[in-house]
Amino acid sequence: MAEYEDTYEKVMELARRRGFVWPSSEIYGSVAGFIDYGPLGAMLKRRIENIWRNFYVVQEGYYEIECPTVGIEPIYVASGHVGGFSDKMFQCPHCQEFLRADHVAEAFGIPHAGTMSKEELHDVLLDKECPACNKVLGDVEVFDFNLMFTTSIGPGGQRKGYLRPETAQGMFVDFPRLLRFYRDHLPFGAVQIGKSYRNEISPRQGMIRLREFTQAEAEIFVHPEEKDHPQFFRYADYSMPLCGIAQQEKDEPAVVRTMRQAVDEGIIANEYVAYYVAMTHDILTTVGFNPEKIRFRQHMPDERAHYATDCWDAEAFSDRFGWVEIVGIADRTNYDLKAHAAVSGQKNTVFVQYPEPKKVHHKAIVPNYGKMGPVFRGKAKAVAEAMASAEPTEEGIRVTVDGEEILVAPEMYTVKDEMVDVFGEDVMPHVIEPSYGIDRICYMVLEHAYSEDVADGETRTVMRFKNGVAPVQVAVLPLMARDGMDEIARKLVLDLQAEGLQTEYDDAGAIGRRYRRQDEVGTPFCITVDYDTKEDGTVTLRDRDSMQQIRGKMEDVVAKIPLLLKGKLTFENAL
Ligand code: GLY
Repeated sequence: MAEYEDTYEKVMELARRRGFVWPSSEIYGSVAGFIDYGPLGAMLKRRIENIWRNFYVVQEGYYEIECPTVGIEPIYVASGHVGGFSDKMFQCPHCQEFLRADHVAEAFGIPHAGTMSKEELHDVLLDKECPACNKVLGDVEVFDFNLMFTTSIGPGGQRKGYLRPETAQGMFVDFPRLLRFYRDHLPFGAVQIGKSYRNEISPRQGMIRLREFTQAEAEIFVHPEEKDHPQFFRYADYSMPLCGIAQQEKDEPAVVRTMRQAVDEGIIANEYVAYYVAMTHDILTTVGFNPEKIRFRQHMPDERAHYATDCWDAEAFSDRFGWVEIVGIADRTNYDLKAHAAVSGQKNTVFVQYPEPKKVHHKAIVPNYGKMGPVFRGKAKAVAEAMASAEPTEEGIRVTVDGEEILVAPEMYTVKDEMVDVFGEDVMPHVIEPSYGIDRICYMVLEHAYSEDVADGETRTVMRFKNGVAPVQVAVLPLMARDGMDEIARKLVLDLQAEGLQTEYDDAGAIGRRYRRQDEVGTPFCITVDYDTKEDGTVTLRDRDSMQQIRGKMEDVVAKIPLLLKGKLTFENAL
């Protein structure tokens, strides 16, 4: 048997061999940062995405939208990505390799390399060796490298485009339409699952750092002063270890808190963020993360993205990569809506009605047309309109009409102080954003599901997938491909497919080998058709994890498998 360095190597070997994940463009030598999902990988990914949809779209009621992956330049000028979405890079003077400066420094054990300036990175790298050629780097220039892929739109290439670096911007740009869709009421949310692109400098971590990757993002638009989640009760008592800023500053272990306690004690900024921290834990364990290998860590202030005021990462532990960021839950405030309002001219506000109208003092400016007419002539009406929203001073009212600055003298108007009813105000919502890296989730599901045990004196490799994500849900195995057993098995496959189950038929080789093949791709249940089936219509049903077998009528087995897969029935009580 081949020797493997760690679980990562075992998982990736299995993933390649059994059709989960392949290097992309392999026949042309592949390129780092791109992968293909094979038949079982694509199925696994789809199932994970659908579980995510069950939480965000079905449970939360945030509808899914789909925007182009190519975005025009103003979007990314407004979002700040053109100006600031970069990593610090240098080129090795010996082997010419381009490398990410903070990652090289981190590999040498330099703390906080991710938040260092270019100058600081330059200084710490002076005496370090290049990870590619092992020569001392010396005086390298560290510079910013923008991570967005550029493209051009149209045959003449007149319009610059970018491949989106996050799906989030689609929801921000569509804000006015979404607001109307949700009948002008806060809070509301929209989600997207789709490809995003980042031209990573030297991606060497397989599925963990990709140049083309899938994100599942929710943008939840809330009133800036109302950050209590209306369904908070769902997760108020959900508890987990939290590594807040205070714990990290004091180098203390995570504290275990319920979400209610975490908000009350100020560990998590508000109910919305706490709710999605808990829901994320729920989602990650539902898709099969080992709960012992999940932790939530708050970003330190110097670590936060340019748009966030509070951010929590869900991290998962990998034997190869250590703690890896899987999900970011950020309070983006009104950063994005404000930025798009400034560049596009859209207001990006919501009119929020007060529960009761408020009486407020209002200074009404009443123009005296008799005096204004002879002075301003044809412009008098425009000047009067501009005066309505201007502030009177002792010398008069200054307005600009058709680009001309005009001073209206005090005798040309009177100011009346009156009480008026105000029914509400325009507010720019804040955005709570849970953002999931689907490829990282797929990798962790593979790594956490991977297990080995011993069966019939041999090592058995089992992908202990949760039923909800297993690509193949049931396999039908005729003991022999003869004497009518194969025909019964093929008919059984049709019945299971009619139940909507992903079913495989396998009649090749010894039955033990066939079980092993299914175990290796994590198929939860196998049904074996044997000689008794012909006599009494019964089959055996085998459970992947325990390898136990029970016998029952074929129709009964077909009816029970969907319940077993959904966890509504235990294997022991199935038949
Ligand atoms: N939308 C957050 C991120 O892409 O990192």
